[in-house]
Amino acid sequence: MEEVINKLKDIIADSKHLVAFTGAGLSAESGIPTYRGAGGLWTTYDPMKYANIHFFLEDPTYYWSFFRDVRYPIIKKAKPNPAHYALVELEKQGKLSQVITQNIDGLHQIAGQSNVIELHGNTRQIVCMECKWLFSMETVYKRLEQEFPPNCPRCKGLLKPDTVFFGESLPQKALNEAMHAAQNCDLFLVVGSSLVVSPAAQLPRIAKENGASLVIVNIDITPLDGIAELVIHEQASQVLSVIIQRDESQGWAL
Ligand code: APR
Repeated sequence: MEEVINKLKDIIADSKHLVAFTGAGLSAESGIPTYRGAGGLWTTYDPMKYANIHFFLEDPTYYWSFFRDVRYPIIKKAKPNPAHYALVELEKQGKLSQVITQNIDGLHQIAGQSNVIELHGNTRQIVCMECKWLFSMETVYKRLEQEFPPNCPRCKGLLKPDTVFFGESLPQKALNEAMHAAQNCDLFLVVGSSLVVSPAAQLPRIAKENGASLVIVNIDITPLDGIAELVIHEQASQVLSVIIQRDESQGWAL
């Protein structure tokens, strides 16, 4: 491990424009289950029922019972883990400019990351599908006892988490920002993603095509391991918390 860690330190030291791309594996150590791989959410819950817009519109009670019984209790108590804080430290050290995340847990922002592009939205926000008003997940959770599935207190429209369901397009602004970041970085660091869901999973390839080096830190193998300069199949917090430990001799070339 030490050899690959030192190689990653050198690659980061040489980079002038590092962008991180994160997935559910980064939040796994915060107690939020990943979707795929060992113990993944989709091995228990059918994503075509619990995270598909067409099914949600047919029967919103499926998702809302999942939110009430599974999603809300986990997100509510989740806290950032050392991997989140390591990325904040890289930002503070002037090495990391942006984080593109597929995660909907808001933990990057809670950890103090200032430039986060949320490709798949944020489950801490609930949106009315009619009037587009936003509510906190806490506000809606409290309403579930007297109203299930919950409707908008303003216009009675159907409420939905402010996240991207299968069958929905990604928010155009976030996608444009993420594409721009991938096209203009010199190092694209993937942390904790299976890289199987597009269009997000195209971003590492786009970064490579635009001259960036690609590093993947992920416990399992990914379809893009073969085009990466460096692949580390280890836990995100193990790798990232070592990366930010620098002594004077290893100061970043800012
Ligand atoms: N450190 C590093 N990697 C980890 C860790 C960890 N502690 N724990 C798990 N992993 C890896 C797993 O090996 C797995 O390959 O994280 C990856 C998580 O993959 P997914 O569960 O597929 O999550 P992600 O890539 O973010 O999924 C993309 O799919 O269902 C949709 O919208 C959902 O945003 C999600 C998208």
